[in-house]
Amino acid sequence: MKMISFYNGYQIPQLGLGTFLMSPEQAEATVIEAIKVGYRHFDTAQMYQNEVAIGNELKKSGLKREEYYLTTKLGNHHSVEVTKKKIEQSLKDLKTNYVDLFLIHWPNHDLEINLRTWRVIEEYYKKGVFKAIGVSNFTRYQMDNLLEKAVIKPMANQIETHPALSQVPTKKYLDEREIRLISYAPLMRGHFNESPYFEVLAEIANNHKATIAQIAIAWGLNREIIMIPKTVTKSRLIENFAARKIVLTANEMEQIFALNRGRRYYTDPANTIHGDLLE
Ligand SMILES: NC(=O)c1ccc[n+]([C@@H]2O[C@H](COP(=O)([O-])OP(=O)(O)OC[C@H]3O[C@@H](n4cnc5c(N)ncnc54)[C@H](OP(=O)(O)O)[C@@H]3O)[C@@H](O)[C@H]2O)c1
Repeated sequence: MKMISFYNGYQIPQLGLGTFLMSPEQAEATVIEAIKVGYRHFDTAQMYQNEVAIGNELKKSGLKREEYYLTTKLGNHHSVEVTKKKIEQSLKDLKTNYVDLFLIHWPNHDLEINLRTWRVIEEYYKKGVFKAIGVSNFTRYQMDNLLEKAVIKPMANQIETHPALSQVPTKKYLDEREIRLISYAPLMRGHFNESPYFEVLAEIANNHKATIAQIAIAWGLNREIIMIPKTVTKSRLIENFAARKIVLTANEMEQIFALNRGRRYYTDPANTIHGDLLE
């Protein structure tokens, strides 16, 4: 499995398993299968309410802690004290004493609150409890502000990215600042059977004797993006994992870039109240 380095040198596998909307029971069953297939990178979040299930299965798996990689995300913005409690809870739930990549799940509209949360995350990074740190759903404006004030710069931004939302300008912006892009909804939440995406992706899939899902994943991998497709289906775990072997031609990459419609399947982070709640 290809590893991707953050600017601090820490590496995680480029292809992982997304776990949003997996119930604890589904997460348990899926993690067991995913490990058999070869997945070693698991993307969860406090909001997904499956950290306990994932932590349990990884613990039981027999894998050593350094043999698998965990991303989790702080569900919300709180006082410093409560933020620390939430972080400690994640560590307990995931049955680990460190997290490979820890993210702020959603920005707050108040830049000072983002910074206050970030200071806590920096503290855990300095203690070695987080090996890499970053954000999710941050707009350029929010990222600029964080970069200006951060002691430790964020290493990743997890944002919606797929053939209908290629994020070319944002990827360039992040690349220039050595921030890794992690794609969420890499399979367009299953909507790739819609026109015009289907026609183009199906033809490219045919060229490679592959499936459309595999082409969507390979397109992201070919761009050095960290990909975390989610599935609870055993055959799709295998299918999605095999996408790492597909190399698309420059022309095929361009054909997929041309599908960009700025189409989102999730809320636009610039217009959401996620992350605005405080306890
Ligand atoms: N940071 C954030 O705010 C944020 C937001 C959303 C998501 N995420 C992360 O990103 C991960 C991926 O995004 P996502 O779960 O929203 O969507 P996704 O990975 O784009 O799509 C998942 C959907 O595609 C289906 N699917 C999976 N493999 C397939 C295949 N080979 N062929 C056909 N259909 C397939 C799945 O069905 P089955 O499961 O039924 O097989 C599921 O319905 C999440 O799980 C989560 O970890 C982060």
